[in-house]
Amino acid sequence: MQDDDKRLAAEAAVGEVRDGMLVGLGTGSTVRFAIEALARRVAEGLRIEAVSTSHDSAAKAGALGIVVRDFATIARVDLTIDGADEIDARLWAIKGAGGAMLREKVVAAASTRMVVIADASKRVAAIGAAKLPVEVLPFARAYVAERLAMLDAAVTVRDGVTDNGNLVLDARFAAFPDARGLAAALDATPGVLGHGLFLDEVDATYVADDGVVTRLERADLSG
Ligand code: 5RP
Repeated sequence: MQDDDKRLAAEAAVGEVRDGMLVGLGTGSTVRFAIEALARRVAEGLRIEAVSTSHDSAAKAGALGIVVRDFATIARVDLTIDGADEIDARLWAIKGAGGAMLREKVVAAASTRMVVIADASKRVAAIGAAKLPVEVLPFARAYVAERLAMLDAAVTVRDGVTDNGNLVLDARFAAFPDARGLAAALDATPGVLGHGLFLDEVDATYVADDGVVTRLERADLSG
């Protein structure tokens, strides 16, 4: 059921892809459905190229016949489709359970449009219950962990490294702080290379709930 909703949300977003686009591929189980839907359209004749936010998505897309270009040579992307761990009605998201949030944020920033696809379990009244992943230069691990603890976060170091060779610290907040202030504090902390707070990047969401897909556009939000 949850997988059906992930697939429906993914297929709805892939419906936005047009001939000639350079498409950004996010990371995660929901995005895998988008890659499959995109590959089906490519097999039917759609002419697109893609860039990927992770080795995992690049491998999946390549195996399904999608041309994946090296993002290091790319400055602009037309449409990026990505998942989220939490998304709220302001289109604020927490991302990075899959550890790809640094590349995801770069690709989102380069994108004319970025859409999040999700099943309804990801829709929340206000982001903050999910762990916030923070990508950290290994050299700065203890320093950044202490800075996060000073912000009242319980911090765990994830096993393994990211596609960039860095560590991920997962920060869980008993009371989630002001998101903009937290993002600014993290952005200003030496050794923090990225984090999963996406406050301005998401242009629209496709959320599927029990077979019904709802699209929400940032442009339609009041205030
Ligand atoms: C990876 C991400 C993912 O998009 C997010 O974790 C959602 O993944 P899934 O679709 O598997 O629930 O941000 O860094």
